[in-house]
Amino acid sequence: MRILGIGRALPAQAVSNAQLEQLLDTSDEWIRTRTGIRERRIMREETVTGLALGAAREALADAGLHGRDLDMIIATTALGDDLFPSIACLVQQELEADCPCVDLHAACTGFIYALDTADAYIKSGKARNVLIISAEGLSRVSDWTDRGTCVLFGDGAGAAVVGLGEGLLSIRLAAQTGRALLYSAAPAQSCPFTPQNGDGAWGIRMQGQEVFRFAVSSSARDLQAAADMAGLSIADADWVLLHQANMRILQSVRQRLGIDAARMPTNIHRLGNTSSASVPMLLYDLYHSGLLQPGHILALSAFGAGMTSGACLIRWDKPAPLNLRAPAETLFFA
Ligand code: UT7
Repeated sequence: MRILGIGRALPAQAVSNAQLEQLLDTSDEWIRTRTGIRERRIMREETVTGLALGAAREALADAGLHGRDLDMIIATTALGDDLFPSIACLVQQELEADCPCVDLHAACTGFIYALDTADAYIKSGKARNVLIISAEGLSRVSDWTDRGTCVLFGDGAGAAVVGLGEGLLSIRLAAQTGRALLYSAAPAQSCPFTPQNGDGAWGIRMQGQEVFRFAVSSSARDLQAAADMAGLSIADADWVLLHQANMRILQSVRQRLGIDAARMPTNIHRLGNTSSASVPMLLYDLYHSGLLQPGHILALSAFGAGMTSGACLIRWDKPAPLNLRAPAETLFFA
């Protein structure tokens, strides 16, 4: 498998920490120093499906392909605009694609899980070109009275078209049960024959420090395992892209594995935590900064609810786009 094209779509509305200060007992200083986040994008008129479509169209154009060239669409999301149908089915017609469509749920690790699924389909000969879309609207899942979580999340979508090739060097996925650490309960149900169950409270619930520890240890372990599987060391990776959950998580993983700060780009200051969209959107920013060059080795790592985690190594083979949409100065380094 190799990555043929990358796309991204963001809501127009940027919400700053200062705006959150007006709503919650929080401060720009707390959010910046504890997380690295300065602002996040939040949907106003946009929809998760619309963002998914925008990212998908850009990825297809970047790959030089048309929707009818696709053999499969896999979308990842914590929650689309509807519980069903899937986002993948909703974008299919607009893309003029005629192929199986499915949504895959692995929380923030969704993009890495989808890469692995796409790779398996391509290796088996069942598919040549697979579109992966990671589209998230976590602003709609957040509890806007909980300052411990709502300040963290943002909306956006990243997409990749993948096809036959030698780009994926290794991939490692993991999962363990851990609902209490990070979850969002289903909406209350109204069936007259079923007693109310669950806590019914809408919104993300997270034990931040436990999740922080899980994130650092699983990311370091998965990256090391993926490097070992590829017969490489972490030092061979030109770029290490982590799920953008917290700047301090990035720094802890970087220190644990001895990675130079200059090899770990971040856009968390502009986008916050966008769950499964985070890794493909950071890859998009790196690609569109002009810094990512053919032959570079990328290490991707994500972690999230489940608890799920995963990492992979990719040899990049696309030249930088002519029209750079994310100048290098918009990236920070961990
Ligand atoms: O994408 C899925 C994976 N998610 C993650 O990886 C997130 C991992 N966890 C984290 O990033 C961090 O744990 C958080 C950013 C969520 C929290 O940072 P922390 O340093 O662990 O803070 P804390 O939860 O221990 O809270 C410290 C203090 C508390 O006050 P007291 O009890 O010490 O008086 C909180 O009530 O900070 C308070 N606090 C806030 N204060 C101002 C919590 N949220 C806020 C806030 N503004 N927004």
